[in-house]
Amino acid sequence: MYSTIKSQPVIFIIFGGTGDLNSRKLAPALYNLFLEGWLPDEFSIIGTGRTPLTDGQFAEKLLDGINNFSRTGKAKKDKWEAFSKHLFYQVADAKDFKSYKEFGTRIDKHNAEWQTAANVIYYLAVSPDFFPIIAENISKAKLADDPQKTRIVIEKPFGHNLETSRSLNKLLANIFNECQVYRIDHYLGKETVQNIMAFRFANAILEPIWNRNYIEHVQISVTEQLGVEQRGDYYDSSGALRDMIQNHLLQLLTLVAMESPNSFNADEVRSRKVDVLNAMRKFTPEDVRMSAVRGQYTSGWMEGKEVPGYREESKVDPASNTETFAAIKFFIDNWRWKGVPFYVRTGKRMHQSASVISVQFKDVPHLIFPAEVSESWQQNRLIISIQPEMSIRLQVQAKRPGLEMALNTVDMVFDYKGTYTSQAPEAYETLLLDTMVGDQTLFMRGDQVEVAWDLLMPILTTWEGRQSLNFPNYSADSWGPELAEALIARDGFHWFTLPLNGKK
Ligand code: BG6
Repeated sequence: MYSTIKSQPVIFIIFGGTGDLNSRKLAPALYNLFLEGWLPDEFSIIGTGRTPLTDGQFAEKLLDGINNFSRTGKAKKDKWEAFSKHLFYQVADAKDFKSYKEFGTRIDKHNAEWQTAANVIYYLAVSPDFFPIIAENISKAKLADDPQKTRIVIEKPFGHNLETSRSLNKLLANIFNECQVYRIDHYLGKETVQNIMAFRFANAILEPIWNRNYIEHVQISVTEQLGVEQRGDYYDSSGALRDMIQNHLLQLLTLVAMESPNSFNADEVRSRKVDVLNAMRKFTPEDVRMSAVRGQYTSGWMEGKEVPGYREESKVDPASNTETFAAIKFFIDNWRWKGVPFYVRTGKRMHQSASVISVQFKDVPHLIFPAEVSESWQQNRLIISIQPEMSIRLQVQAKRPGLEMALNTVDMVFDYKGTYTSQAPEAYETLLLDTMVGDQTLFMRGDQVEVAWDLLMPILTTWEGRQSLNFPNYSADSWGPELAEALIARDGFHWFTLPLNGKK
């Protein structure tokens, strides 16, 4: 699939060209793809926005982004010069149909110059309010008539709830083929997240024990030290459930829980993930009370710096009911997972930034050693650390060297740093490349997004309908509200955290 890439010219039209996402993520990713030879000789990146800019000013903006955020560091002069020849800017009001005629003219000009029809990728790095009008205008201007050659990339959030995601899907389906629609969840592009499937389905030893007979419970935890930063207006109408669980965390859960696909084909893989979501137990209002915990951070100190509480953040309602933390206990009602709890949590301003999946296996059936032998004995755990540490650890019990019989827990570790010398690509590099080659495996299919919303709607409506009386309920630099500890402690477990070599 990747072998044809050099010979297939491509045009990116980036809506929101002057925005943060382009500077921080898209431009550095495209630049790194260019450096590593993944872009064809004939490509052009056309940024668009309402701010009037020359091509040169646009390029300068992107250079700034690359210099600040690229994993490969500051751009080298010669490479940048070669890359920047492909950058263009078109001032445009995305709502104004006339602008789309101009995109058409530019596309025709490139095609004439390259003497072929380029793939055209429309990247919607804009606020979701603009998704419908941009999609409609692209269609009206007949810029997406060839389903093989034109693609549309949609950033999250995909809808605000089940209803809005349904109507967005409907609108897109009237204009595009599903094979043209690339719904981004950047977690799926992360190297360690892609590895979950490789680890599960390229090794024979896991499958026999990957089920309710051997696994006691699963934890998926994505905690961040960051607060809401400059995104108060977006975040206050979103919250942790919409911002993280509906997409990133549920995606991780489906990767852990899915059945083996018949092949590594986009629809096969995505169908198996939808199967998991369909099997997840629906919440009654009573379940929401018992199995879902929300939290909101208050002010505190993070690494020696005083930080404001959520309600004091800019563009946040001072009486906000929005959750910045959520912990939920899910069940998957199928043969493989019946009765195995999946605990999921995420939060901002937490003690540690870490994304970790921990699979805890059941107890040994009978312990032959006396209690004093197993000082730090614990059940086996498989720990998939997604970031910042990139590793997979299997925790097992072993005999401590010595004349006496003594057991302790040791880690068998696969660590990216120790195993590979090359730097892992950023998620957006992988995702942009996949968009170019037309591989949708790492993108969310329309039905998948809807099932995920459907699952969360009872929690969303309960939380929105009932003002939390104890917000704010966790302090910055903590592990979240006490109720989240209680949620898992009631079942006899505790949240697992990975010691990060003494670092937070
Ligand atoms: C985004 C959320 O999708 O993911 C942010 O909108 C969050 O609120 C971010 O901070 C986390 O991504 P990462 O890659 O830093 O774990």
